[in-house]
Amino acid sequence: MNDTAESNRLEGRVALVSGGARGVGLAIARTLAGQGAKVLIADAGGAINGDGADPTVAEAVAAELGDSALAFTDSIAEASAAQAAVALANEAFGGLDILVNNAAILRDGFIFKSDPADFDEVLKTNLAGAWYLTNAATPLMRQHAKDNRGGEPYQWGRVVNITSTAGFYGNYGQSSYASAKSGMLGLMRTTAMDLARAGITCNAVAPFAATRVTDTIVPANDEQTTYKERALKVSPDHVAMVVAWLCSPEGQSITGQLFGVRGREVFLFSQPRPIATLARDDADWDVAALSEAAAATFAPLYTDLKTDLEVFNTEPKV
Ligand SMILES: NC(=O)c1ccc[n+]([C@@H]2O[C@H](COP(=O)([O-])OP(=O)(O)OC[C@H]3O[C@@H](n4cnc5c(N)ncnc54)[C@H](O)[C@@H]3O)[C@@H](O)[C@H]2O)c1
Repeated sequence: MNDTAESNRLEGRVALVSGGARGVGLAIARTLAGQGAKVLIADAGGAINGDGADPTVAEAVAAELGDSALAFTDSIAEASAAQAAVALANEAFGGLDILVNNAAILRDGFIFKSDPADFDEVLKTNLAGAWYLTNAATPLMRQHAKDNRGGEPYQWGRVVNITSTAGFYGNYGQSSYASAKSGMLGLMRTTAMDLARAGITCNAVAPFAATRVTDTIVPANDEQTTYKERALKVSPDHVAMVVAWLCSPEGQSITGQLFGVRGREVFLFSQPRPIATLARDDADWDVAALSEAAAATFAPLYTDLKTDLEVFNTEPKV
């Protein structure tokens, strides 16, 4: 494909990117705008842990992107704000074809030491915020599908949930974050099903990228020092490219999938399905019988407790 076709690919489309003013979200917003989309940058501009707010962060990005972008600076962790963000995109740009649920905060701490209030905040921003936006955006997308907005058939309607490998590998001290991120997978699967008839897709992408979050990792050992050094080499632009692919006409048939992006490596992840079955026809299981059968059939297949950090331990391709 030549540069012109690449830059016009999303001409006439409207995207809403939550957390679109920094890091991965900023790269996504710039890439979608670069391909012709109008972009609503929904970013409250707070600290990594969600404290505070700074509307100037999203406003500066919107100013940089000019006519292609607008800032929405209320927290998307409120249902009413999510509704308002979708309404603004619709009023300002005439519709909404693409939603990227990317905003997230971190409040780490071992499960046995954490404050329930921190869990509530993380779930509210990272998972409820994504649900609120999807709930607010998809009636409009369904209407666009009925109206064949932009030509028949409607080729758009995209929801991309930015998740994390922490959501399915787990990570020390990230029980809240991992709970929210794995929750996004259930949200992704069900959104894909609920919207399949309308031709609207929903997928999840787990990024690896240098952002302010990667910057703040304080290595506890040599392995983590190496991880951080490698992570800081990986531009979020690679993640943005994969999101742009899912949002392109070529992404129309891809739904319900979980991808990962680390530099030039793009992963398709499996999703949990039974890998072994124990079944008894003659009687219910009891503890002794189950122990014996599981030791033979399940034990060789048990999933180890390696973190994503330990698994993705090779030099990234950048
Ligand atoms: N950087 C990585 O390597 C990495 C790894 C795994 C997952 N992720 C995921 O990628 C996404 C982006 O992460 P990042 O590293 O770019 O983080 P970041 O902190 O640089 O950017 C997140 C943005 O979201 C915004 N935000 C947070 N809460 C908000 C709210 N309630 N309303 C509106 N905006 C809000 C913040 O202001 C910030 O600009 C997150 O979903 C994160 O979980 C990143």
